[in-house]
Amino acid sequence: MLFNFFKSKDSAESKLFYKTDIHCHIMPGVDHGAQTVEESLQLIEAQQRWGIEQIILTSHVTDDTFENNPETLAEGFRVLSEGVKDAGNPIKLAYSAEYRIDTLFVNQLENGLIVPMPDNYLLLENAFIQEPIGLDRLLFDLKVKGYKVIMAHPERFPYYYGNLDRYKELHEAGNRFQINLLSLAGFFGKDAKKTAEWIVKNGMADFLGSDMHHIRHAETIDKYLHSGEYRKLLPWLERTVKNDIFKL
Ligand SMILES: [Fe+2]
Repeated sequence: MLFNFFKSKDSAESKLFYKTDIHCHIMPGVDHGAQTVEESLQLIEAQQRWGIEQIILTSHVTDDTFENNPETLAEGFRVLSEGVKDAGNPIKLAYSAEYRIDTLFVNQLENGLIVPMPDNYLLLENAFIQEPIGLDRLLFDLKVKGYKVIMAHPERFPYYYGNLDRYKELHEAGNRFQINLLSLAGFFGKDAKKTAEWIVKNGMADFLGSDMHHIRHAETIDKYLHSGEYRKLLPWLERTVKNDIFKL
């Protein structure tokens, strides 16, 4: 029933212009994204309809709520890889995580428990209430350690809305930005959408991500990919988005 939504709309215009998703919660049972392999497969198939061929799985790692570690992530990846193989699905998968900047992250970093993306990229998420204290220092230290920081959906943090120059500062410091398709689609409200478009038009959208947790997210993104709004934004997006640097 849910998938009737997609069936009539599998047209060329619904495609993404890249083949790699670098932010999603479709590893089964490790956070509040997909809970079963079946759900994971549904979400993977939705992405494949948009032309996605490879996915970096980025489950949450946060204090208290989702205290994942290299073992839980490896186990989720094993289960999903097996499910994908059994289903005969050709999707290419790799995994890392979406690391919230908190004490667990700092702990895991100190203890060598970070699972980076290919090529040492790290997807980091700010807190939503306020910018993490000492953020610039932490980002600098990560660079010194050889990590390439991708800030997850910077357009979703309200404390930046009155200070757009801060985005330029963070970007000029060498941090890469990953914008959510869901933000562009308006899923997180007008301010996040407007800010996402501003970041795109100011040349700072280095990556796009689905940040997909469940099928409603897929439906929202699908609708957006059919919109004139997406078509109008495409020339800007194509100029800076480089999701396909990853070869899985
Ligand atoms: Fe996420």
